Amino acid sequence: MPLIEVKNAKKDYPLGKTLVHALRGVSLTVEQGDFFSIVGPSGSGKTTLLNLIGCIDHPTEGEVIIDGKNISHLSDKELTNIRLYKVGFIFQTFNLIPVLNVRENVEFPLLLMKDKAGLTKKEINERVEKLIEEVGLKDFITHKPAELSGGQRQRVAIARALVTKPAIVLADEPTANLDSETGENILAIMRRLNEIENTTFIFSTHNPDVLKYAKRIIRLRDGLIMSEE
Ligand SMILES: Nc1ncnc2c1ncn2[C@@H]1O[C@H](COP(=O)(O)OP(=O)(O)OP(=O)(O)O)[C@@H](O)[C@H]1O
Ligand SMILES: [Mg+2]
Repeated sequence: MPLIEVKNAKKDYPLGKTLVHALRGVSLTVEQGDFFSIVGPSGSGKTTLLNLIGCIDHPTEGEVIIDGKNISHLSDKELTNIRLYKVGFIFQTFNLIPVLNVRENVEFPLLLMKDKAGLTKKEINERVEKLIEEVGLKDFITHKPAELSGGQRQRVAIARALVTKPAIVLADEPTANLDSETGENILAIMRRLNEIENTTFIFSTHNPDVLKYAKRIIRLRDGLIMSEE
């Protein structure tokens, strides 16, 4: 069974008295362990598609099936649980919590889980520290986001997205605010974690330099898939 299936998904947004057709019938299948990129010009529907895959939003028409369940049949509570337990998000603007340090930011999603993923305090600390080490921030563990560079903040966001061991990590323009070398480093870290943990990664990008890290590339234009390579 594929991890995710998107079947002929359409998404309209109301805009005044008209509708914007952000996605006009998109189908794709995501397997566990995939590492792929969604590329396309501004406005082509990349963020809209990631939001559907991540259960942040419902399609207007068509289906999104996660682990064999059609998400349009799920309650808000069930969707919240899928987001918390199955999906990690990395946003363009990092979305770190400014008053928390690196360790606390990475730990935060685990504290939201009622059962703390069945982990003891000690196991939580070990997992948090291991991830911080894997993204190369061991020496910055007590720094607050304002005391880090853009690339370092994005690495905190990656560690935070992975701490709950989600099946899938969605990254919307994860390199957009970074210089090209830092952006490539971020992709290399994501690709390494994909190989170590078999976590599925889907990232959108404008940056042709980072496409070489993708195992699959989906090109969107005007809300439709133009090609897949
Ligand atoms: N909440 C909304 N209300 C109305 N229109 C929207 C909304 N969100 C997106 N759109 C429109 O849907 C289309 C697709 O937007 P989307 O954000 O998915 O594009 P994108 O490929 O992510 O663009 P970018 O590269 O600029 O981030 C655009 O025409 C956009 O203006
Ligand atoms: Mg976008």
